[in-house]
Amino acid sequence: MATIRLRKAQADDLDALVDLEFSIFPGDRISRRSWRDLLKSPSAAVTLAADGESIVGCTVMLLNRRSAIARLYSIAVTPEARRQGVAALLMDAAIRAAARAGACLLRLETRFDNLAAQRLFVRLGFKPFKRVSAYYEDGAEAIRYQRMISDDEVSAQSESKPCHLN
Ligand SMILES: CC(C)(COP(=O)(O)OP(=O)(O)OC[C@H]1O[C@@H](n2cnc3c(N)ncnc32)[C@H](O)[C@@H]1OP(=O)(O)O)[C@@H](O)C(=O)NCCC(=O)NCCS
Repeated sequence: MATIRLRKAQADDLDALVDLEFSIFPGDRISRRSWRDLLKSPSAAVTLAADGESIVGCTVMLLNRRSAIARLYSIAVTPEARRQGVAALLMDAAIRAAARAGACLLRLETRFDNLAAQRLFVRLGFKPFKRVSAYYEDGAEAIRYQRMISDDEVSAQSESKPCHLN
């Protein structure tokens, strides 16, 4: 695997994020305007995986200080960089960031037919807990997954806090 570096996205990554989104997702895309809002939002964490100057993946996580539930809103890796552990690296960082923010549970959803994503999430300890019909633009069903953030993952962080699920 190439040397992949994770970093927090900055305002000037907007064009690259929009290009990544449009090259990867055929529908249900995050619009340019939404990306701009996410990059500014204090409750969103946008993390990039970079191979040198090239962005090869990203995650968006939503954190709410009033809730112990974090939501992974998006994950994507470019086709050329797949099956090299980039998504696993991004997910590991997302889980640690959720722990750092005091979350006890990380939730996400994926299409019922996205087997690559489902295998990734199950491998990382996520469990399906709900199906939502007609969730996507084309009417496809979503499967919601969740993963507890373990005491170890929480206590590994400098500021460990008690967890309260809302
Ligand atoms: C799903 C996605 C993020 C995976 O990214 P990736 O960097 O290729 O994933 P990794 O290399 O970290 O894979 C980790 C594990 O996930 C599973 N996995 C990933 N892609 C897989 C595939 N195509 N088929 C089966 N299992 C897969 C495997 O268990 C893999 O471990 P292994 O390679 O040792 O077998 C990527 O395919 C992608 O961006 N797809 C398009 C966007 C998308 O569907 N996003 C998810 C929306 S919820």
